[in-house]
This record gives sequence, C-alpha cells and structure tokens, in this order.
Amino acid sequence: MKIGCLKEIKKHEYRVGLIPTDVKSYVSRNHTVTIQQGAGLAAGFSDEEYRQAGAFIEPEREKIFADSEMIIKVKEPLPEEYDLFRENQILFTYLHLAADRKLTGAMMKAGIKGVAYETIETSDRHLPCLQPMSEIAGRLAIQEGAKYLEKTFGGRGVLLGGVPGVERGKVGIIGGGVVGTNACKIATGIGAEVTILDVNANKLAYLDDIFGSRITALYSTDANIEKILRESDLIIGAVLLPGAKAPVLVKREHLPIMKKGAVIVDVAVDQGGCVETIKPTTHDDPVYVIDGIVHYGVANMPGAVALTSTKALTSATLPYGLMIAEMGLEAACLKCEDIKRGVNLYQGKCVYENVANTFGIPYIPMAELL
Ligand SMILES: NC(=O)c1ccc[n+]([C@@H]2O[C@H](COP(=O)([O-])OP(=O)(O)OC[C@H]3O[C@@H](n4cnc5c(N)ncnc54)[C@H](O)[C@@H]3O)[C@@H](O)[C@H]2O)c1
Repeated sequence: MKIGCLKEIKKHEYRVGLIPTDVKSYVSRNHTVTIQQGAGLAAGFSDEEYRQAGAFIEPEREKIFADSEMIIKVKEPLPEEYDLFRENQILFTYLHLAADRKLTGAMMKAGIKGVAYETIETSDRHLPCLQPMSEIAGRLAIQEGAKYLEKTFGGRGVLLGGVPGVERGKVGIIGGGVVGTNACKIATGIGAEVTILDVNANKLAYLDDIFGSRITALYSTDANIEKILRESDLIIGAVLLPGAKAPVLVKREHLPIMKKGAVIVDVAVDQGGCVETIKPTTHDDPVYVIDGIVHYGVANMPGAVALTSTKALTSATLPYGLMIAEMGLEAACLKCEDIKRGVNLYQGKCVYENVANTFGIPYIPMAELL
C-alpha cells in the first residue's frame, strides 16, 4: 500500500503520525511510505532518519494526498485540506467528528474512508489509541500543577514533596480513571499527600490496592469534594462521563473556600471541564487567575511533550495501521473488530452511530457494507 504521513498544520501540534522505526515496519512489509518534509522535526525526528528507515521525503502535501492510498496523521484535517481528499482514500488519524460538522460533511462528500484513533475499541471496552494520551495528561497534570504552584506564576509557593521539617503539599484528584491514576502515580512519587475521589467503588478498590496507605481514596460526594477543595494545594479534574459533557463538580462559589494561590488543573476541559470557572487555554498562555486560584485549562496537554506523546501514540496505532496496510481496510475490519469500531465514515456513509445521531444523518452499520 502507498502510505503518506503529513506534517501537522494545527497550531501547536508538534506530534507526527509515524516515527522512523514505524516506517521500517511498513517498508519491510513492502509498503511505500512518503513523509512530508519536516513532518517529524518538532517531535525530534529528522528527514534523514526517515530516509534511512526507507521513506521518501516529499515537500508538497498536495502531492502526498494525491499519491497515497492511506494518509496517516495525528489531528483531524483542517479546512485547507478538505479539497485534497480523494475518493476511497483511507484517513487514519484522530477525527473527533461529533465536534465538527463541516469536516464530517467534507469527508462524506469526498467518499473518504475515515478511521478514527479515538473510536478504535477493544472487546473489553478499552480505547487503546486514546489511553496513552490520558496517561500522559495525567502525569503531566502534576508536573504542570507543581510548576504553577511556584510563586512567580501566582501560586502558593508550595513544594509538593515538602522537605524534612516542613509538611508535604496536598493534592486532590477528582476522578480515578486513567488520568486520575496516572496523576496519582506522579503525585505520590514526588512525595505529595494525595486524596482521590471517584463514584465507582471498583475504581476506589483498585486505587487502594495499588497505592495502599500512600493515598486516601474516597467516594466523590459533595462533602468530600468540599473537603479536598479546602485542604489541597493542587486540584486535578479528571472525570469522564463517556460520550457526555463533564459534570460540573467544582462551582464558582467553591473558590473562596480554597487556599489563596492553590492551583486547579482541569484535564477534563476538553469535555467542557468539571470546574465551572475553567475555560480552554493554550500552551502559549496556559493559566489565568480567578478569586486567587490559578486555573490551568490546556485542552491538548500531550502536545507539550511531543516526543513522548508521539512515541506513545504511534506504538498504539502501528499494529492497526500495519493490519490495514497488509489486508486493506475491509478485510482488516472483518478480521479485527477493534478496527471496525474505528471506522466512522465509509465511502460517503456514516458508519459510526454517535456521529450519525449527533448530526441527525443516516447511520449504516459497517457490517452491512462489508
Ligand atoms: N486536556 C487534555 O489534554 C486531555 C488529555 C487526555 C484526556 N483528557 C480528558 O481527561 C478526562 C478523563 O479521561 P480518562 O481517560 O481518565 O477517563 P476515564 O474514563 O478513564 O476516567 C474517568 C473517571 O471519572 C470517574 N467519574 C465519573 N463521574 C465522577 C464524579 N462525579 N466524581 C468523581 N469521579 C467521577 C469515572 O468513574 C472514571 O473513573 C476526559 O475528559 C478526557 O477527555 C484530556
């Protein structure tokens, strides 16, 4: 198969869809890989490394779109790319179509086959291409929170690990899923005192098993939310209601009960946030202060650590990409349900129910088209 990998054009997106070792895997199976010139530079991979791995380097994205049977990317295409789609071309990337009517329409009109990283799902309901980004965001949440607790950034001037003779910093985490667990790992690792809340008893039992007496795992009730807001130096928002907007658990009237200079990192901001006063921010200008509380609301946190994120993302996507290249999308769907669940659009039809429902367009199950 002819595979093309594009340089991302979304602002502050430094990741790339293939790394040189991935190229080797495709090329050794007799596929052709073309990388857009400079596509990997921001993540730390030079054109020369791709060339040595067996890729062709092409400066023009138009030419890559025109020549490739499968385009591999990271983020959804932007409007300036819509005219470059070709009928029956496979687009393998994060798509987030339910949030983008125009992109959905453009891809359907072009008859493109859209496979979304975020909806590839295993039979035990894991999202293997989304999970690594939550792991990264969870770990980064503590790193960023620790930074903004520094006085120069408006924080309380607290060192999360404390020092001998001085108490440790306190971290409160709301939501004990992938983001919350990873935040917990780093927070306990640097010696902070951690309380984590969830509504799911199994999650709490798991956290208790893993972290034991190093953390306090509590039910997420109004009273416990207030308790951690009062006590914590750093609050991490990490809740998710699948397919829905995040519930607002920290209200504006809660801010005065928090310590002045405390920091809120609401990782769930990409789903609307679980803090009423959070708004999406960018890596350029990540924080703002309301009522003395520092708010961090970057919606694409993994972009800050492009090298780690690229490696984590491509390790998750490579096995699926290889299967599609080896067998073609249709046979890959018949062999692997995970990939079938990843297909959102197919030759002008919407084959992903949530997207169809969101836009009130007909839904046709992929199984009927195979
Ligand atoms: N900002 C970013 O860059 C970024 C990156 C990755 C993920 N995210 C977001 O982070 C959020 C969490 O993702 P995840 O992968 O950890 O999801 P997850 O499904 O693994 O975990 C969510 C947890 O929230 C819990 N929960 C639900 N309602 C709750 C409540 N009322 N109180 C406390 N806990 C509650 C669930 O039981 C679950 O354990 C999502 O919104 C995701 O989109 C953001």
